[in-house]
Amino acid sequence: MEFAAITGWGKCLPPAVLTNDDISTFLDTDDEWIVSRTGMKERRISHVPISDLAHVASVRALAAAGVDASEVDLIIFGSCSPDEVVPNAASRVQLLLGIKTAAVFDINTACTSGMYALSIASSMIRTGIARTALVIGAEVASSVQDWTDRNVAVLFGDGAAAFVLQGTEKHEGILAEKLGCYADSRDILRANGIGMRYADGRTILGTIWWNFNGQEIFKKAVVGMCEASQEALARAGLSTGQIDLIVPHQANLRIIDFVAKRLKVPPEQVFINIHKYGNMSSATTPVALVEAVEEGYVKHGTHILLPAFGAGLSYSAHVIRWGERVTPLHSTDIELPPCEKTGLEIVKEYMSRPRAGGPY
Ligand code: UT7
Repeated sequence: MEFAAITGWGKCLPPAVLTNDDISTFLDTDDEWIVSRTGMKERRISHVPISDLAHVASVRALAAAGVDASEVDLIIFGSCSPDEVVPNAASRVQLLLGIKTAAVFDINTACTSGMYALSIASSMIRTGIARTALVIGAEVASSVQDWTDRNVAVLFGDGAAAFVLQGTEKHEGILAEKLGCYADSRDILRANGIGMRYADGRTILGTIWWNFNGQEIFKKAVVGMCEASQEALARAGLSTGQIDLIVPHQANLRIIDFVAKRLKVPPEQVFINIHKYGNMSSATTPVALVEAVEEGYVKHGTHILLPAFGAGLSYSAHVIRWGERVTPLHSTDIELPPCEKTGLEIVKEYMSRPRAGGPY
């Protein structure tokens, strides 16, 4: 196959909303600070496990592609908040979809996980290892949040998106990408308390506290996203002037503005949804791409640039030339189970957990 094209797309946003005003009821912050520093107004909080969000997004993506689940031979689940480490989250999605056999695995590069997953699936299709892939970017960031820390708690939300990827002989789909990581910046963004090094008899597993140097992350994010974009464009043989739409990782509106200015792309060509969802980590860029398609910004032949970054400090940029399909082939009536709680009530439940191990 020459390229792997996105033939189906779907998202799943949990219904419970947590507004800036809600957060200011338990943290020393306010709507004015959060909006002016980040562009975020509200975010979603999940009442279900992450694999349920991913399942709904996947069913919607498969319907959009007109592909039966039995045709899927690869599922890649990009996330850093899987339900459990063993077995992986991808196998639960496989089970829920009723797929008898497929290669399924999780990958974690923090917020870029969904984008790295896209590259792996594209490569596996182009080399003939897989034919029909389901790529998922999902996060239940609320579960790994330190809800006592205003530096991080205001920034994140929950969600999921999925894409169906299939091979094409046409010059479309994922044309090129650049992936990378500044490992010397590992310490500026760390969610402490997740992982085997914390099984030390002192830390209560499930207690999370963050190292978070916002200004350093900001600077590294701008450099990483811009350099990756230039490299991906060069690999695709395109200039920034030939890009019709940028769909960036939505971590901060000011980061997005810097990246667009440096790449000399006008604001009207930049897709923004940060005000609705905050930063959904691995789900952020995937959900933004789904919404850019749903809202009519993507046509046949549209060149899309997707720069992203995450902890690690990982970065990525993909260049996509969109194929013919811009409306779903089929729809589905799948929904999450109803949520009886508000976003604030779910967060209060997280806050009532026992705490220990962290520096407070
Ligand atoms: O996907 C990866 C996720 N990471 C990121 O996206 C982080 C990238 N960085 C950023 O987005 C920004 O650096 C932040 C939004 C995190 C912070 O914005 P900033 O303009 O860099 O603010 P700052 O860190 O310089 O803090 C300014 C002030 C400080 O008070 P003082 O020291 O000036 O008195 C903070 O304590 O704002 C204070 N502050 C807050 N005030 C109200 C920090 N968080 C809050 C808050 N509400 N939530």
